[in-house]
Amino acid sequence: MRVLIHIDQAATWRDALAEHLPDAEILTSEAPANQRRDIDYLAAWKPPEALLREQTDLKGIINLGAGVDALLNNPGLPDDVPIVKLRDAGMAELIGDYVRYGVLHFQRDFDRYRRQQARHEWREHTVDDKRDWPVGVLGLGAIGAKVASMVAADGFPVHGWSRSPKQLDGITCHHGDDGLPELLGQVRTLVLLLPGTPHTRHIINAEALASLPEGASLINPGRGTLVDEAALLEALGEGESEGRLRGALLDAFPAEPLSEESPFWSHPRVWVTPHMAGPTPLKDAVGQVAELIEAFEAGETLETVDPGAGY
Ligand code: GLV
Repeated sequence: MRVLIHIDQAATWRDALAEHLPDAEILTSEAPANQRRDIDYLAAWKPPEALLREQTDLKGIINLGAGVDALLNNPGLPDDVPIVKLRDAGMAELIGDYVRYGVLHFQRDFDRYRRQQARHEWREHTVDDKRDWPVGVLGLGAIGAKVASMVAADGFPVHGWSRSPKQLDGITCHHGDDGLPELLGQVRTLVLLLPGTPHTRHIINAEALASLPEGASLINPGRGTLVDEAALLEALGEGESEGRLRGALLDAFPAEPLSEESPFWSHPRVWVTPHMAGPTPLKDAVGQVAELIEAFEAGETLETVDPGAGY
């Protein structure tokens, strides 16, 4: 069996995967083209189009991340090869930590204190009780469900939303078109963890932002396409004084890297991070990749990506 890996630091991945699959021949995409033949499985994060096109006999593709939008939008993707993606694999906890940091950032007024510090202003704000700070999580897949439970464990009331009904312990679950405004109307921090699909594009538009309570905040460690950026800037308003939207912590953008000209960089109530909320942790992920390949080889029925749904 031959496995081809394409990701940053692919050699480290190759060596780690070799420990789990001692009988496999594992190559990285840096191997010479004449060796990258007869590959059975491609394990890749954002592979170039040409790399996908040169593989004609793949039995399966393993997406080395949670979101499959980049892969599904790749014109070189063959349409008859099953795709599986990593599920959680350590990413959920990393994203959960990012979100917990973001929720506390707003709830404990770190945003305001940073601006006050710049003015050398010593002024304490009354702390809003966590129990009066509902947090909304859009997307209750492997990552969203874990993040929701981590925030709930911190003592915040958590509302979750998914397209179809879900039940999660300790989370008030909403679903479908009617459930979304129901959730938006009551959360003080909104967290976006939906997949980037044609259905979720601009789900956070002017109308959705207007449904949030005055002074709400936004955390987006998911996908940039979920947000209508012009509507977000409008809802934030300009300058330091808080608009309808108090602030935003943004890790994902429709085009990455974020352009140097983007107004988000210099907005005083926006925090930009470079898509770092949930890197794929090699240790957790590599075992899952090996299991997926073994399951493919054993002919087991795998939970594959549905290209029509986009996840
Ligand atoms: C990262 O954005 C991922 O989808 O894994």
